[in-house]
Amino acid sequence: MHEESLKKFEEYKSMGLALNMQRGQPGDDNFDLSTPILTIAGKEDMFVSGVSLRNYPGGVYGLKEARELFAEMLKVKAEEVLCGNNSSLMMLSNLLMWTLLKGVKDSPRPWGADRPKMIVAVPGYDRHFLLLETLGFEMVTVPMGPDGPDMDRVESLAASDDRIKGILFVPTYSNPTGDSISLSTAERLADMECAAPDFTIFADDAYVIHHLVENPSKVPSLLQVCREKGNGDRAFVFGSTSKVTFAGAGVAAMASSPDNLKWYAGLLGAQYIGPNKVEQYRHVKFIRQFPGGLEGLMRKHAELLKPKFDAVEEILERELGGTGLARWTIPHGGYFISLDTAKPVADRVVKLAAEAGVSLTPAGATFPGGKDPNNSNIRLAPTRPPLSEVRKAMEIVALCIKIASE
Ligand SMILES: Cc1ncc(COP(=O)(O)O)c(C=O)c1O
Repeated sequence: MHEESLKKFEEYKSMGLALNMQRGQPGDDNFDLSTPILTIAGKEDMFVSGVSLRNYPGGVYGLKEARELFAEMLKVKAEEVLCGNNSSLMMLSNLLMWTLLKGVKDSPRPWGADRPKMIVAVPGYDRHFLLLETLGFEMVTVPMGPDGPDMDRVESLAASDDRIKGILFVPTYSNPTGDSISLSTAERLADMECAAPDFTIFADDAYVIHHLVENPSKVPSLLQVCREKGNGDRAFVFGSTSKVTFAGAGVAAMASSPDNLKWYAGLLGAQYIGPNKVEQYRHVKFIRQFPGGLEGLMRKHAELLKPKFDAVEEILERELGGTGLARWTIPHGGYFISLDTAKPVADRVVKLAAEAGVSLTPAGATFPGGKDPNNSNIRLAPTRPPLSEVRKAMEIVALCIKIASE
């Protein structure tokens, strides 16, 4: 069996393949859906609700119509939304920087004065870890599970250490596991006792509308649950159109209580006059005109992406099902599949796959510092390559798992 696998591996190596299962990016066919954005706005559109899109005035909250669009996306009220420019990660970074200098709205002192710590869920998004590490936050990991971050751990950590200032995670179709928070998780996060009086939830809802199944389960709105529990200022939620229209060339937004936004808008107003309203308007006009609106557009994305996720699942099941060599998630949305090898061989699998022409996310990337304590987690990103490449790449990945596990 092993001989046969090695022979196949050599055959793949000789093919000189260059397949990429690393990039969590939309496919070109996904981008094509949004081509009308490029020409949708003309001179006749340059005044919207009395605001000139071509000129500065309008304020740091962004265009009213864009706030309404993101309210629909993030399941909040329009007055709870502040719209920015092209990157939600940048909005998160900016807020975190301010917390180091000032804390959040009612903080007794700047977080930077306290050698702050942040809870993160693992496996998670490598850019969250890079950002927190670069800003000087110490990260405390908790496992990500089918209902979201492990709440027993989160509660005991938050209650016991006032240097723990918050938690950063992906609440819907998490990167990379595809897990979403349950109502119980949202309620516990909203309600829990925290040693730090200004403990804050940073929820990166990058995949909040990225369903892959019909009738997806409802994921609770953290903002709403926090409000109901009497901790309305506890959460900030982030989102963008990076995987709705154009990646890195769209609009991002954050949502929080109106009081929090007022506090933050004061700081933001010292940084710039306001966001790119032309881009915000182009997005609003395009999405509102799309058949079925935001939902209709996301359904079209799902039609293109679902076959790729199905192919990954089918090949993993066919090649590795029942072998006990690996287990993997079957997400109902989002952009990733998370695979865990049974043996500590993730780094070897990634290396072998590279030799056979398949690039995978580096082993360890889903943990702070790039160090997976079990050396088992591999993030699979099937969205960008064409379906035929996804199939070929997964056959190779499955083969590499067999070889590495010998
Ligand atoms: C969880 C998560 N957040 C944020 C981003 C990037 O979002 P943006 O382009 O809005 O900065 C990504 C992109 O892969 C992501 O996976």
